[in-house]
Amino acid sequence: MNILAVSGSLRSNSSNTFILKAMMALAPANVHIYLYDGIGNLPFFNPETEYDALTTVKDWRRHVQAADGIIICTPEYAFNMPGVLKNALDWLVGSGELNGKPVAAVSASPLATGGSKALFSLENTLTALGTVKSEHTLLTIPFLVKKLDAAGVLTDEVTRQQLSNVLSALIHTIEQIKMNAVE
Ligand SMILES: Cc1cc2nc3c(=O)[nH]c(=O)nc-3n(C[C@H](O)[C@H](O)[C@H](O)COP(=O)(O)O)c2cc1C
Repeated sequence: MNILAVSGSLRSNSSNTFILKAMMALAPANVHIYLYDGIGNLPFFNPETEYDALTTVKDWRRHVQAADGIIICTPEYAFNMPGVLKNALDWLVGSGELNGKPVAAVSASPLATGGSKALFSLENTLTALGTVKSEHTLLTIPFLVKKLDAAGVLTDEVTRQQLSNVLSALIHTIEQIKMNAVE
């Protein structure tokens, strides 16, 4: 099983990317989670260039298409998901790689809100894109800075358990979809 992990932050020391790395460490042996770090290379979405052979866009679409499921972990910028993440998702609207794809969405923030407004906006976009998600594959993580050590390793046991639950729910959804496809 292949799961694509996408961080909504381009920062080299992104706490959201660290959360994705914590989820990678939680994955069972038969599940491979790999980080896609190319969304910062995508051009601004323009419907007129939708079908052009842009290498960066093709690469993004190919990775999403090939994945059995997607995990997105994002910060909140000005009460919304970062523009770079929304831009990346806009590139998938016309081509449909996310349609019917199981997703988990996590927002993480140093504030008490845990970036809930970013998660809300991301959820809406993921609904528009036809993804498969549930309350069990959505999570906000508040007070994030207190939960990572200086090296970015997740030290909070409750958060680790919550991430494990989200991952299990995502894997379960993927397995259900695969089973239905065989029947
Ligand atoms: C321009 C900007 C806007 C921000 N707006 C919000 C916000 O609306 N809500 C929030 O919880 N945090 C906000 N933050 C704080 C981010 O959550 C924090 O910088 C976080 O660590 C970024 O995630 P990263 O570590 O993955 O890069 C903002 C940060 C920046 C730089």
